[in-house]
Amino acid sequence: DQTAAPKMEQSIQTREVTVLFGSETGNGQSLASTIVEKLQAKQLPVQSFSMDDFKPQNLKKVQDLLLITSTHGEGEPPENARSFYEFLHSKRAPKLENVRFSVLALGDESYEFFCQTGKDFDKRLEELGGERLYPRVDCDVDFEDPAEQWMSGVVAVLHETSNANASAISVSEKQAAATLLEEKQSVYSKKNPYPAEVLENISLNGRGSNKETRHLVLSLEDSGLTFEPGDSLAILPENDPELVDSLINELGWNPEESMQINEEGDIYSLRKALLSKFEITRLTKSFIQAAAELFHNEELKKLAAPGNEEKVKAYLDGRDLLDFVRDFRPVQLKPVDFIHILRKLPARQYSIASSLKANPDEVHLTISTVRFQAHGRNRKGVCSSQIAERIQPGDMLPIYVDQNPNFKLPSNPDTPIIMIGPGTGVAPFRAFLQEREAEGITGKSWLFFGDQHFSSDFLYQVEWQKWLKNGVLTKMDVAFSRDQAEKVYVQHRMLEKRKEFYQWLEDGAVVYVCGDEKHMARDVHQTILTILEKEGGLTSEQAAVYIDQMRKQKRYQRDVY
Ligand code: 2AM
Repeated sequence: DQTAAPKMEQSIQTREVTVLFGSETGNGQSLASTIVEKLQAKQLPVQSFSMDDFKPQNLKKVQDLLLITSTHGEGEPPENARSFYEFLHSKRAPKLENVRFSVLALGDESYEFFCQTGKDFDKRLEELGGERLYPRVDCDVDFEDPAEQWMSGVVAVLHETSNANASAISVSEKQAAATLLEEKQSVYSKKNPYPAEVLENISLNGRGSNKETRHLVLSLEDSGLTFEPGDSLAILPENDPELVDSLINELGWNPEESMQINEEGDIYSLRKALLSKFEITRLTKSFIQAAAELFHNEELKKLAAPGNEEKVKAYLDGRDLLDFVRDFRPVQLKPVDFIHILRKLPARQYSIASSLKANPDEVHLTISTVRFQAHGRNRKGVCSSQIAERIQPGDMLPIYVDQNPNFKLPSNPDTPIIMIGPGTGVAPFRAFLQEREAEGITGKSWLFFGDQHFSSDFLYQVEWQKWLKNGVLTKMDVAFSRDQAEKVYVQHRMLEKRKEFYQWLEDGAVVYVCGDEKHMARDVHQTILTILEKEGGLTSEQAAVYIDQMRKQKRYQRDVY
């Protein structure tokens, strides 16, 4: 029987695993490489792709699919997942009847559309006929532990259901390489942050400004920590002591009562736990649900009842834990139980504003102080207000480096760069230019900067002028939005210079955008499309393809928040 042999062979063959990741800051990408290593260690054949680099027509050939994705803004896919997301949700998507899949979703629980992209992919893969080999896991900002659980779960299933002996890959070399990599890394990381000494903390704004932007210099001495321009620094902040004390007071508790705050068995006083370990300035849907179980408060039970999702959403907006305990008094609640339903205080990420080559052993940050009014009370950003109000030179801040492989200077020093960064979005471009000056790079560079007022908000003015003079910066255009009757923004300057802007694009320039995501980065994106249409004579479809190509060639990089 001639058909018997090939069939036999097929049944012995191990199924191949395909890992697809969509990620803007690199977390998804590094999780993808971790799971690839874990699968290879079990001798399972595996391939991994950024969703951008994966040809949708190859989806038909996929057997076991592991999909890792973050979510952005109002539940949108990350840049490099966008076209694959659209393809999969279109009529062109193939049936996936022989595919097994599992999704790891990364997100931030304080956003309404938490992990939405992961949820969408998970649902769609099932709709297309795929079989879920392991349940989806949704991760909050502290993603390491749940991601680890997902990985072990997935690897166990894949290992059990495979014929692992069928393929033989040498893992020893890989392991050796991994050890080498670890040895080079600093002992300080997210799990073990480095206490960095504050060397300088000054305001960058002049008199009469509506803003307070701090320039913070931290020492990295002896930490072994390194970074590249484009990377971010994470700070573990502390909550406002005044807010913590008001909260404890409101609850009538003893601030010094000690309790175990985590599974590792760390013991903290209530006050210290609320200062440094738990989030008290934002509320989440899951907190409301958990509190409804614990507080013995009828009003809260009503709010948390099914069907009230819109009401809950409206309540969450702009309110903190102090509002919450004032609105819904708990009855017979124990501090330790309360602590355990709070969200862990997430680290705050800032784009690094300096280069190690120019400032060895230091890291500089540009931090805008967040202060606003809501529901009749003054509110503050946790980390930015701590730095503006309570941090002096000599103090220590726990930090770690968060690499961003998707915001990097071009490897070819002659490639022109265009940098668009209004407000604190200019931070990484200071790092870029410091680095290029230190390396003696003379490739063309063009900076677009904007802020409210020339006289009070021109961040790092003398530095840009120095770089314009010595040729490190070729061109600079500025937009001070409130110095005249009409608002002028960076994108207006881009449009004024559209002929030259288009020429730079045609010459292969890399475009970097950093800063506000919702308004600025969106408008800048639209403006690039407009320039392509006007100057390149492209239709809107062709312009979209052009910018998509740029993205795939890493010539359009964004660090937006
Ligand atoms: P505005 O505050 O006067 O509106 C940095 O914050 C600068 O970005 C400010 O000058 C701010 O102007 C400006 N800005 C606000 N919205 C913007 C948008 N949609 N596009 C570009 N810049 C914007």
